[in-house]
Amino acid sequence: MPVVRGKNIDPLFTAEQIAERNRALAIEITKGPTKDLLVIAILKGSFIFAADLLRALHDTGLAPEVEFITLSSYGAGTVSQGVRIVKDIDSDVKDRDVLLIDDILESGRTLRFAKELLYERGARNVTLAVLLDKRVKRQENIEADYVGFECPDYFVVGYGMDVAYAFRELPFVGIVTGDA
Ligand code: IMP
Ligand code: MG
Repeated sequence: MPVVRGKNIDPLFTAEQIAERNRALAIEITKGPTKDLLVIAILKGSFIFAADLLRALHDTGLAPEVEFITLSSYGAGTVSQGVRIVKDIDSDVKDRDVLLIDDILESGRTLRFAKELLYERGARNVTLAVLLDKRVKRQENIEADYVGFECPDYFVVGYGMDVAYAFRELPFVGIVTGDA
């Protein structure tokens, strides 16, 4: 099992599995709404997935504009949980097809917020691509249009995702299982 900074990391999805899924997702995406396509990656967690998925999209012939939005959740209890914009996009989304990219769809609050925001701003279609779908944690009535993998109910790290600011740089998705 890989050991990273003194922790055992149990690989859940390997770099090879992810690369293969990204190629398949890109082909699925070409069959959806892609007119004047704007891809928006939700930072920070999606940055590696977005970079790889965009290059897979390029291989299909799509040439999207790329933007970034930084969103943050606040509130930890069962009440008053919300999402706020830390840094917004610069582009106008009016009448455009938008593909939102995120690392994990969990409660659904982040993606529901982002999707509603973009429709309020006049986007024509907003579709969602996520690397991982942690379905058992869902609180909102929202589904992704493109899902890399169904994710078991573990806290995962790597491939952009962190725990306490660490492990984003791992080329695979794994579970921290303890001290090495
Ligand atoms: P939600 O769908 O609004 O609950 O938010 C999902 C967000 O929480 C993702 O975009 C991640 O940034 C973060 N997140 C959820 N589960 C995990 C995990 O297992 N590892 C790392 N980040 C996670
Ligand atoms: Mg996130």
